[in-house]
Amino acid sequence: MSLSKVIAIDGPSGSGKSTIAKELAQSLGVLYIDTGAMFRSLAYMCEQRSIAMTSGPSMENFLKTIKLEYGKSSECLICVDGENLTTKIREHSVSKLASIISQIPEVRSYLLNFQRELASKVVCVMEGRDIGTVVFPDAFCKFFVTASVEVRSQRRLDQLIEGGDNEMSLDQVMADVKKRDASDMNREVAPLKKASDAILVDTSEMNQAEVLKELEGGIRSKAKEIGINL
Ligand code: DC
Repeated sequence: MSLSKVIAIDGPSGSGKSTIAKELAQSLGVLYIDTGAMFRSLAYMCEQRSIAMTSGPSMENFLKTIKLEYGKSSECLICVDGENLTTKIREHSVSKLASIISQIPEVRSYLLNFQRELASKVVCVMEGRDIGTVVFPDAFCKFFVTASVEVRSQRRLDQLIEGGDNEMSLDQVMADVKKRDASDMNREVAPLKKASDAILVDTSEMNQAEVLKELEGGIRSKAKEIGINL
């Protein structure tokens, strides 16, 4: 069986997977694809346009008519209908909306096609929740990155404070993280779970440099073994 040239990085929010995925892509010189940003963008746009986040004709029509663009330039990681959403989608309120929209089968199916198309011609690091299980079960490297709920909540709080949002307490953030974990893991379509052949990486007590070194070494030797040029 020929394998896809995708390095799949899945895991719950706050696990550190985004930082790892970005740095790995940079260090390997390949495209970085953040699939969470896609769910966030669609959720943000539905909110802006007062489109109900439920299955049905209005969602189908929205998906049929929008123009989603990914990776057009370094300033514009993600655009919908020409509007650069790269920064706006990082707000805390959008996280909740993204978790809701990610349960809708039409949305998952639309993004599944979009993600497969985007990665069809290039080597890439793709991060999300279902990349190694559903989007690219034949990815040549798969990692499931996680950390304890306490560590992940503290990281999320630090990110919010860094972004100028000082309104949340650690307890509130932890309650949100637990709620999102439950909905990501229990949804009917493409729930968050480790692929049986993914390598588990627990970042609770690891430093970033160690994680990267370990993953990059493994990826380079696997790529060489199966003839992928990095
Ligand atoms: O990784 P993130 O926090 O930006 O993801 C935002 C939401 O999108 C999160 O609730 C999980 C969901 N998501 C998903 O269901 N599948 C993916 N491949 C990526 C994200």
